[in-house]
Amino acid sequence: MKIRALVLGLAIGTMSMLSYAQQPIVIKFSHVVAADTPKGKASDFFAKRAMELTKGKVKVDIYPNSQLYKDKEEMEALQIGAVQMLAPSLAKFGPLGVKEFEVFDFPFIFDDTADLHKITQGPVGASLLAKLEPKGVKGLAFWDNGFKSFSANTPLKAAADFKGKKFRIQSSKVLEEQIRTLGGIPQVMAFSEVYQALQTGVVDGTENPISNFYSQKMHEVQKHLSLTNHGYLGYAVIVNKKFWDGLPADVRGQLEQAMKEATVLADKIAQEENDHALDGVKKAGKTTVYVPTKEERLALKKVLVPVHAKMAERVGKELLDSIYKDTGFDPNKL
Ligand code: LMR
Repeated sequence: MKIRALVLGLAIGTMSMLSYAQQPIVIKFSHVVAADTPKGKASDFFAKRAMELTKGKVKVDIYPNSQLYKDKEEMEALQIGAVQMLAPSLAKFGPLGVKEFEVFDFPFIFDDTADLHKITQGPVGASLLAKLEPKGVKGLAFWDNGFKSFSANTPLKAAADFKGKKFRIQSSKVLEEQIRTLGGIPQVMAFSEVYQALQTGVVDGTENPISNFYSQKMHEVQKHLSLTNHGYLGYAVIVNKKFWDGLPADVRGQLEQAMKEATVLADKIAQEENDHALDGVKKAGKTTVYVPTKEERLALKKVLVPVHAKMAERVGKELLDSIYKDTGFDPNKL
């Protein structure tokens, strides 16, 4: 009797050990945008590749559309380990104490994605990601979205059109200065609250790449969209450092590979997604889409580039100069 109980106990013990060994490592990946966006699609792809490459040892659960956390809360959730992975926009690292990321918010600093990639895919990008480590955060990659446009219920062709209007921005001091320089009133607000704030008139306008504008249905509540492409919005994919460092080395390597592939995809689809979203806005027929003339865009640029000098100290003059050097941008030659 005793022997039978012992054998049974051993068998149950072995079975539970086996099932324990087979439990996948779960990565909760929270983000604030819709699944149908560059970030949404790249994170879904990462989840799929992580599962394949680790042969099921890792399961990545994606939580889009702020369903777990809003902008600021998600950073805190990552730091305490309530989620393991995020991809916040580069404009949202100031509150974490890494103000240097706000250099990506400088208006007109990148002419195109080729210039941007000189930074995000070069030594400056790597040194920026390294600045996250003392915060308990590890930066894995930069993902593209694209260039932002302004919207409101009135046409936005020149700086004068921004005067006195309230614009929702992300939590970046550089973006605050950008709106102030235009004569507008900046209002920091979580992404998930923008649609309602536009609908109820809490704010008059906003800025975002078109994929965000369209997937949040902002075109339903904004009569005018001006394709200003005045600044960049992209992401840093980040993980809780303690969690990441504690992963078995082989699994970490497989996840790095999955991230590499997801990054290629993100950068490849970003422009397509934004183009597709612009078609959607036009087809919906509720928003007048305006393409500024070359002269109008240059005039806006001349008003906004002085933001660089005003905010240089916040991000560090050296960092700013190294970006100017790598991209060839000269604020004195517009
Ligand atoms: C925003 O808050 O406007 C963006 O950061 C949203 C996003 O993640 O693209």
